[in-house]
Amino acid sequence: MGKTKEVNPYRRFTWTLGISVILIGLVLSAVTLWASSSFVIRETVDLTNASVVKHFIKLPQLADLFGGKGTQSTSGDKGRTAASSYEGDSHAGHMQPAASGSSGYEHAGSEGYEEHALPKDYEGVYNVVRMHFDLYSIVETNFYYPDGTINFSYDKSRVGQKASTAAYSAIDQVVEKKEVLHDRMSGHRLHLWLPIQGEGNRVNGVVEIVRDITEQDLVSSWLQVTLLTVILIGMLALFFGLRQVFVYSTRIIDGKNKELNAMIDTIERTYDESLQALSSALDSRDNETQGHSFRVTAYATRLAMEMRLSDEDLGLLARGALLHDVGKIGVPDAILLKPDKLTEDEWVVMKRHVQLGHQMLQHIAFLQPSLDVVLYHHERVDGRGYPFGLQGEEIPLFARIFSLCDTYDAITSDRPYRKGRGYLEARAEIERCTETQFCPMVVEAFLRIPPEDWQEIQEISRVAHEDEVLDRLRFQRSGRQAIAG
Ligand SMILES: [Fe+2]
Ligand SMILES: [Fe+2]
Repeated sequence: MGKTKEVNPYRRFTWTLGISVILIGLVLSAVTLWASSSFVIRETVDLTNASVVKHFIKLPQLADLFGGKGTQSTSGDKGRTAASSYEGDSHAGHMQPAASGSSGYEHAGSEGYEEHALPKDYEGVYNVVRMHFDLYSIVETNFYYPDGTINFSYDKSRVGQKASTAAYSAIDQVVEKKEVLHDRMSGHRLHLWLPIQGEGNRVNGVVEIVRDITEQDLVSSWLQVTLLTVILIGMLALFFGLRQVFVYSTRIIDGKNKELNAMIDTIERTYDESLQALSSALDSRDNETQGHSFRVTAYATRLAMEMRLSDEDLGLLARGALLHDVGKIGVPDAILLKPDKLTEDEWVVMKRHVQLGHQMLQHIAFLQPSLDVVLYHHERVDGRGYPFGLQGEEIPLFARIFSLCDTYDAITSDRPYRKGRGYLEARAEIERCTETQFCPMVVEAFLRIPPEDWQEIQEISRVAHEDEVLDRLRFQRSGRQAIAG
């Protein structure tokens, strides 16, 4: 019989918990890494933007870079737009252009954006920008008009040139959405596109910046290591804490289970002792069959074990065996104890014991599965038994097993008028009655059992007290070890 491999529940819980905690830890770590990195970048972008905008407000050299633009554009649609921008700025606000005529610009030309003004004192502006931007580790910068013309750059040769195609796209987005664009570059570099707004939130220019964020990345790494350490410690604490709770709770439940099982055992033992008392009373009345119920119970259990019935079935069969003739309580002494042959009418009364026994026990719930033995133990496979004349497998298995044991005990037990016969004679009789009285499958199992087992049971029941016989049977749980032990 295949034995199911049981996984230790502690080990199973530990594995499940461990895998869950690792998965949660990994997800949490990934989210934390992403969030902390995003947080540092976002903060850097916001701070950079705020600082640059502040410089454009506070430093006239920078404000002039975009503020003067509008007035210098003289023709074309773009020029007109720029001119109107300037008019707006001239009222008030941060982006005040330099006063007309004293603008900080040199006119690069007079036609459209291609002819924007350059800062008159380029070196002065360069030094101011450099001094302030260096504080923020800005390693590269280009200032653009909204049309993409560069009006300031660390690389002076680019001033007056048009932006590259990629830069155009960024400038358009920034001008249109009035939002900061950013992306990370390799080598701890952050690339930013910042809108420089004037009055009415109009974008007067776009500043491109490449900032060295080595320091921020270091802070980010430190933050990430700290957070990951906290997560690791938290997950370990969760794992060991939950495991401890599980182990503690399981031990309590195990303890309660044991108590409960002990109580169930006590109750079952009480049941069985009641049955034993009933059966014993019956055996005492019928002197000829003294000890009969206990022996047939032991035989039936042994035979059922040979037929590989479950432990539960062994217990049910054993209870039925113990009570199989309980209906004889209703048979008058004159018939039950009559030494002579029974008359036909007396046989009718005697045969009633099976139905009488069934009636007596049918309302006892825990005996229901055992009643097959009580009701059918005088059936024969050839259909000549009673009370119903059932045939073959119509007769419940418990009853087929039991009837063989009942007959075996009848043959081998001593009677006042004759000595009991031995195993071999009983065996010959049983073999002879195969397929008439007994089920062939049950007889086969009987023949497989060593004769010593039958003799040993008979011997034990002769010398031991009935309690001991029952103890050796241990109906329910340990039926298999009972007789073997
Ligand atoms: Fe009987
Ligand atoms: Fe019997």
